[in-house]
Amino acid sequence: MVGNPMITARIANVIRENDNITTYELDCTLDAAPGQFIMLWLPGVGERPMGIADSSPLTITVAHLGEFTNAMRKLKKGDRISFRGPLGNGFTLPKKDEKVLISGGGTGMAPLYFLAKTAKKEGAEVIVVFGARSKSLLFYQERLKKAANKLIITTDDGSAGTKGTVMAGIEAAGKPDRVYACGPEKMMAAVVKWAAAKKIPCEASLERYMKCGLGVCGSCMLGGYRVCADGPVFSGEILLKEPEFGSAKRDASGRKVSL
Ligand SMILES: Cc1cc2nc3c(=O)[nH]c(=O)nc-3n(C[C@H](O)[C@H](O)[C@H](O)COP(=O)(O)OP(=O)(O)OC[C@H]3O[C@@H](n4cnc5c(N)ncnc54)[C@H](O)[C@@H]3O)c2cc1C
Ligand code: FES
Repeated sequence: MVGNPMITARIANVIRENDNITTYELDCTLDAAPGQFIMLWLPGVGERPMGIADSSPLTITVAHLGEFTNAMRKLKKGDRISFRGPLGNGFTLPKKDEKVLISGGGTGMAPLYFLAKTAKKEGAEVIVVFGARSKSLLFYQERLKKAANKLIITTDDGSAGTKGTVMAGIEAAGKPDRVYACGPEKMMAAVVKWAAAKKIPCEASLERYMKCGLGVCGSCMLGGYRVCADGPVFSGEILLKEPEFGSAKRDASGRKVSL
């Protein structure tokens, strides 16, 4: 793809996080900011967007859902993997001594881990809220304990941490200076609305169907925004003006589908 050379690296480490999630550490670094993503390429399968979970070594964490991500299950240490990036914008980093609340779930925790680690290094007080349906779906616990000043776990069924959604953890965290979210879009919509009501600056990272990843093909539109190039990180102010945020997205053919 013009403007984005394909980079090839080897897989240095494969970490099975749980039954359905795997982390791949590559034998390279990437000059990337938290919130940016790469377009990963598997020969004969295609290209898919993946958030950057760390830049040194370049790390991605993948949920195995369909054709592409299940093909990734077969990848092992030493295999080659190719990608374009870093792509998109990133999160606005907090100022020194700001208290930040980083909230999410699922593989949304991958870019949030990179954000938490970077924000703490910059001198921010970092509280991470990780929500999951159940204990067996959690991962990254050791990484997050190191990256954050405080880690709050919530599970819908109460099998780990506080029983309830991410919102229960957010309410327990005290008032932050900034809020960040990445994960299921309905969860992000709740976080963005909560922050807006409290007049706290908030950013969320969105997923839309991506083909080029470069702002050219238009498959990832959210209203007038190209999520791949204008995002994937957007301010709460922008998102609350977009009727599709939290309710609908486009599939591979551009058809609108409910979330
Ligand atoms: C900016 C961004 C960052 C992402 N980061 C991660 C990550 O860190 N880890 C992770 O596991 N997943 C991430 N995803 C989602 C990941 O791209 C999809 O799960 C993956 O493409 C599924 O492909 P599949 O063939 O395995 O599954 P499919 O069965 O084809 O699809 C499963 C789901 O993934 C969505 N999807 C499929 N193709 C695309 C595509 N080209 N672009 C966007 N969504 C797609 C589908 O709409 C469907 O909801 C990210 C998506 C975006 C847009
Ligand atoms: S994926 Fe082509 S414009 Fe965003």
